[in-house]
Amino acid sequence: MSSMQAAEEIDEAKERAHFRAVVTAFKYYKLCSLDRIHKSEKIISTLPASHQRRLGKYKTYLTKFKKCLDVNNSIVHMIIKDVDTMFENVDHSVDSNGANGTESFGCNYNNCEIASHKQHKMQHDVEKVQSVLKNIVRDWSELGAPERLQCYKPILDEIDERYPEEEVRNRSHIKILVPGAGLGRLAWEIAARGFTCQGNEFSLFMLFASNFILNRCDEINQYTVHPWVHQHVNNLTCCHQLLEARFPDVTPSAESPGRHFSMTAGDFLKVYTEPDEWHCVATCFFIDCAPNVIEFIERIYSILQPGGYWINLGPLLYHYSDTPTENSIEPPYDILLDIIRDIGFDILKEKTGVKTKYAQNPNSMMQHEYDSVFFVCRKPYCV
Ligand SMILES: C[S@@+](CC[C@H](N)C(=O)[O-])C[C@H]1O[C@@H](n2cnc3c(N)ncnc32)[C@H](O)[C@@H]1O
Repeated sequence: MSSMQAAEEIDEAKERAHFRAVVTAFKYYKLCSLDRIHKSEKIISTLPASHQRRLGKYKTYLTKFKKCLDVNNSIVHMIIKDVDTMFENVDHSVDSNGANGTESFGCNYNNCEIASHKQHKMQHDVEKVQSVLKNIVRDWSELGAPERLQCYKPILDEIDERYPEEEVRNRSHIKILVPGAGLGRLAWEIAARGFTCQGNEFSLFMLFASNFILNRCDEINQYTVHPWVHQHVNNLTCCHQLLEARFPDVTPSAESPGRHFSMTAGDFLKVYTEPDEWHCVATCFFIDCAPNVIEFIERIYSILQPGGYWINLGPLLYHYSDTPTENSIEPPYDILLDIIRDIGFDILKEKTGVKTKYAQNPNSMMQHEYDSVFFVCRKPYCV
């Protein structure tokens, strides 16, 4: 076997192991989330009897939170129900050690025998499952409408303005890419306006959930989640923590823009290498997801057709900034604009201070709000 083949096999084995680990995180969602509630119950049980009496009502709510976890768990299980057949020609049933089936952690929440680093990783992965539930609200529920208005509408309006329906005879000839598509709502909305739109996403957590919503939900408000039940702080009322969100607010498969809409799985930088392919690239809360933002900008420039537009909205959170294993660079916005121009873009529009939230609990006492930047750039026809 050549060293290249060996490296490919190792990569495939790693991918399979990652796939199984993500599936396992969905499967352990309830156990790990229950663990947090049991911890509160245990602490209460050690308090003096008089304190326990004062917390009687709260204890009742802790029981109700467990029922919410059951509701969430049924969604979580539906999400992973058919993921083994999600990607064509890929068999995920064998893990990296050649063992069949799901990785076993030999764990229950009372008697945890997982090595601590493995437990930590599992906890981290289950938190990602919990985040996916909040992303469902952002993208596919009525409750998420105000956030979508802030984050997606400026991009959709700009696309409408650049390619007016009355002037562009067949919008399906306009190819628009949405890298870092999350659960796919922005890409779906663009396709629903007649364009050919492809969302790209590399997180299996997101891809599993978007596959479920885009392909398996066929009634409005068919399902329920309790997205804030894991938030144990900054609640004004117990009811806020119990709050349910129904989804989907539209029927993505029934109202499907059909062949003009697609999602791809994989790293944006690896999937999109063909120069001059896209008429427009739309990025929302995405460019700060790269350790090196310049790579993203150069790639967007390269894959755009001459005359093509890049429309961006979002903050500069620089997700890898505090990751010790990543070489993250964090240029502020003014430097970033210089870089964008230097790469060759013409900046057509540019606005700061755009109030935006991301998967925010509307009732929480703590509200994160970004003063995002919005800009529209064009790759010139002749360089
Ligand atoms: C902050 S989220 C924004 C999601 C969506 N655009 C929205 O506004 O709700 C960024 C998304 O980009 C994805 N992502 C980050 N780096 C990526 C890459 N190199 N290739 C593809 N997707 C990526 C992440 O998995 C995540 O879902």
